[in-house]
Formats: sequence, C-alpha cells, structure tokens
Amino acid sequence: MKVLVIGSGAREHALCRSLSLDPDVTALHCAPGNAGIAEVAELHQVDALDGKAVSALATELEADLVVVGPEAPLVAGVADAVREAGIPVFGPSEEAAQLEGSKAFAKDVMAAAGVPTARSYVCTTAEEAAAALDAFGAPYVVKDDGLAAGKGVVVTQDIEAAKAHAAECERVVIEEFLDGPEVSLFAITDGETVVPLQPAQDFKRALDNDEGPNTGGMGAYSPLPWAEPKLVEEVLQTVLQPTVDEMRRRGTPFSGLLYAGLAITSRGVRVIEFNARFGDPETQVVLARLKTPLAGVLLAAANGALDDLAPLRWSEDAAVTVVVASHNYPGTPRTGDPITGLDRVAAEDAPHAYVLHAGTRREGDAVVSAGGRVLSVTATGKDLTEARERAYAAVERIGLDGSQHRTDIAAKAAAGV
Ligand code: AMP
Ligand code: GLY
Repeated sequence: MKVLVIGSGAREHALCRSLSLDPDVTALHCAPGNAGIAEVAELHQVDALDGKAVSALATELEADLVVVGPEAPLVAGVADAVREAGIPVFGPSEEAAQLEGSKAFAKDVMAAAGVPTARSYVCTTAEEAAAALDAFGAPYVVKDDGLAAGKGVVVTQDIEAAKAHAAECERVVIEEFLDGPEVSLFAITDGETVVPLQPAQDFKRALDNDEGPNTGGMGAYSPLPWAEPKLVEEVLQTVLQPTVDEMRRRGTPFSGLLYAGLAITSRGVRVIEFNARFGDPETQVVLARLKTPLAGVLLAAANGALDDLAPLRWSEDAAVTVVVASHNYPGTPRTGDPITGLDRVAAEDAPHAYVLHAGTRREGDAVVSAGGRVLSVTATGKDLTEARERAYAAVERIGLDGSQHRTDIAAKAAAGV
C-alpha cells in the first residue's frame, strides 16, 4: 500500500513512524513533513491547504491512501478534493470537520444527539458576552468559535480578561466551568462504525503544576491508571456513537478520527470539545501502544469497512511524551536555533525512547528549530514510572538554546495520586 500523509507536526511524525513499521506499507510519502519525518518518509512540497494540489500529488504518487493530519486542511475541504479524485482518504469532509471548525456547530450537534457537555451561550456582541459571563460567574470560560491552534480558549477568574478575550473574537462560546481531570479519547470511524482507541491525558498549560497560558499541549501519557475501567465503553455509548449517528442523520457523515476532549466531573463525563483529527501530543503515546498495524485500520475507515475490522490489539506498556518547545512559546516563538543530541538519543535510548519532530527543519548538516513546539520526546516502559524516566533521560540529552519543557508530565499518575 502506498500512503501519503499530509502535515508537518509530531503527530504526523508519529503516524509516519507507525506506518513505516507496517509491513503492508510499500511506499510512504509525507507533505510537507519536517526533518525527522524525512528519515522515514519521502517528503514533497505542497500547500497543505490546497485541495487541488494535494489530490494532484496523491494521483502522481499513485497513493492508495491519503491521511490528512491537521485540522486546517480538513476544514478547508482537502479530504473532499482527494475523495473526488477517487483516492481513499482518512479524514472528514469539510462539512463534517465543522465539529472542530466551529464550537457553536459542535454544541448544536451535541444538543441534538443528547451528548453531555457544558451549558453555553453563543455571543456576537459585548452586551451578550457580558450577560453570559454574569450568568455563569467565575471561573470564566471564553472560547473563540473558530480554529485558533489550541490558543482560542481563555479560562480565568478575571472578568476584565474574560471580556477582553470575548471582544477579540467575532463570535464566542461562553460556557460553564467544568471541574475535574481531563481525558482525550480518540475514535476511528467510517461514519457508522466507531472504534475507540485507548484514552490519554494531555497537559495543556505551559508550566509545571498546570500554571501559565494554554498551549497546543506540552506532554501526554497513556494508559490512565486512575480512570474507571468502564470509561471507554461509557464514552462510546454516551458521546462517540451518538455524535457519529447525528452527523450521519444530518447527511454529513463524519469519517476519520473523532477526538473527544472530556472532563470527568463529579456529575459525570462532559465533553469539553471535539476535534476532527488525531490530537497532538496524545497521538504520540496512543500509537506507541497500538500493536495492530496502522495502515489497514485507516484504510478500513476510509473505505467504510470498519465493521469487518478485527478488534485492535494494545501493548500492556505505558507511554509518555514530553514536548520540547521554543523560547517564548506559546507566544511568538524564536526559531532557527540548532538542536543537538538527537544522535545520542538514537544511539543510547532507542528503541524505548525516541524523538518525534514537530517544528524542525534541516539546514545543511544541522537540524534547527522552526516552530513553537519543536520535539515530542516519547518513551515506553513497563509502567508510567519507567516510561517517564526514559523520556526525561532522553530530553536531558537534547540541546536547544532557550527551550522549555514541563518536568511533571505523568508525574501524579505515576505516583498514583
Ligand atoms: P479546548 O480548546 O476547548 O480544548 O480548551 C482548551 C482547554 O481549556 C481545555 O483542555 C481545558 O483545560 C480548558 N477548558 C475548556 N473548556 C473548559 C470548561 N468548560 N471548563 C473548564 N476548563 C475548560
Ligand atoms: N492536544 C490537544 C489537541 O490536539 O488539540
């Protein structure tokens, strides 16, 4: 099977790594990719938001499957363009990707499907926003309706900061604050059958102890030793399947990866958000534990054949990933700094720990930083303690001037608190 992956983050590196280990994959291409992905896939230059260009590339490469990684191309209709060219594609249509592209749309689908989520108001004026903030009280949760690369949400005790964020957005969703641990649960679906993956937890805040601003995600781990064993089945029945059924009922079936961001509150599970693609960095730890070869699973979803798929097989191992970010992330990051120590990780820590690249590019013999999140250092072990030790040992070998990472990824879960 010839596979083309669209994207350039650590998520796409994780997808490409798994696909490169799949005996059914005979050729692996990625566009635009990054310096790390270049080691497992052939890279191609393409504007990932241009559906015509992506489908032309897929046709030229005679791809049997195209996997669209990030949300922006999905919301721009890239999967539709590839599907129209007659090539199976893993990723929802433009219309179905609105589950991520508009938080107001997602709320509407959840209401129709009876899916539990935070109560909310959609506001377009300062007066409406002020009234909604007043109705819920602190802490305030203010969300840009549209895509914002993980940075559109402000959770604050400060009413002025809440109003200021609302004023910056054309349309905002203001909602009740949900208390409790967060879980990311992904499901692969062909629009009808829903196959949940293993749950993971992401660390959204920039600094240790969940302080600092929200980011795209600073680390993740899986499994979740503290979660109820019935969690996955419960979320399948109350969230994932009803949402997929509602999208099909509307004539806009959702196929691809449905990402449920959940809060486990004292009153039960609530959806914080949906995404229309694999999460980053959770994918790094989920795929590290998936034993079933990946390509056949993604192709079955693309072809509407998930019903026939054998149950997924999972490793008993735990996995942890730690994101190494540029100076000043999640503000405007500093880029162009050389990254050292990658060869030492490959020589001394593999196969249990390895580096997945996000914002990197090659400059001559050097690999340099090229974005906010630069690397996602991933490790497996017999439990979270061992996986953490291996991930952090590898992080210590890496040099990147001014870089930052959290030191407490999976720490509480490993300690059983
Ligand atoms: P989102 O982009 O919707 O996932 O929001 C980013 C982060 O903001 C989430 O992972 C939560 O940590 C936080 N957040 C979003 N919505 C709420 C809410 N209703 N209550 C509490 N925290 C929230
Ligand atoms: N880790 C959060 C996201 O992928 O949106």
